[in-house]
Amino acid sequence: MKKGFFSRLGDVSRIHHRAAFADVEYRINRFFGSYGFLSLVEKRYSCRKFKSQPVSDVKINRMLEAARLAPTASNKQPVHVWAVTSETALERLRAVHPLFGAPMAFMVGCKPDEAWVRSFDGKNGAETDAAIIGTHLMLCAADLDLGCTWIGAFDPVKLAEAFPEAAGYQITALFAVGVPASDATPSERHSQRKSMEDFATEL
Ligand SMILES: Cc1cc2nc3c(=O)[nH]c(=O)nc-3n(C[C@H](O)[C@H](O)[C@H](O)COP(=O)(O)O)c2cc1C
Repeated sequence: MKKGFFSRLGDVSRIHHRAAFADVEYRINRFFGSYGFLSLVEKRYSCRKFKSQPVSDVKINRMLEAARLAPTASNKQPVHVWAVTSETALERLRAVHPLFGAPMAFMVGCKPDEAWVRSFDGKNGAETDAAIIGTHLMLCAADLDLGCTWIGAFDPVKLAEAFPEAAGYQITALFAVGVPASDATPSERHSQRKSMEDFATEL
């Protein structure tokens, strides 16, 4: 017997409710301009090729504000951000990492001795806090149509020597930031995400 529309709908609802209906709702809302955050997340990629033009002060301030407003454990804010924009400071930083030729960078550092500590096992929250701040910075850069790459592969000893201003801080990450070059593209890795099945479990 040929199935009617409503019984087919029932099948879909039972078998693929989340995949089918949640997605339809998502697409409708997206069409009407909702889900701005998800669009931003989809648009962001690690940009590794930049134009030489400087990043405007307005945009630098907005990224710093996005970072400043990030949540930290128990609101301890055991962090500091350095906007590296002057030629002398950039020269020092480029000797540690070439920054993919970006015209500016941020350094995000944390102080474990000022961070929240989990009483159960002594786990220190400083690096987690710094990572949240870095994520705010990176997403704000994308929102401002800037390119950005999180850089974790640097020599911390060389960096500490180059920046005595950051003494007492553990530098968690560098962020190369600038206007993406016209031929900048996401790397191959960008699209290699785990399937939702592997990534998340509903209990
Ligand atoms: C903690 C962390 C450290 C990273 N360190 C580097 C790095 O040192 N050099 C680099 O080119 N990319 C680095 N990346 C960027 C990742 O390689 C990139 O996010 C990942 O491959 C996914 O690509 P996508 O950002 O384009 O989506 C880092 C990203 C994170 C989150």
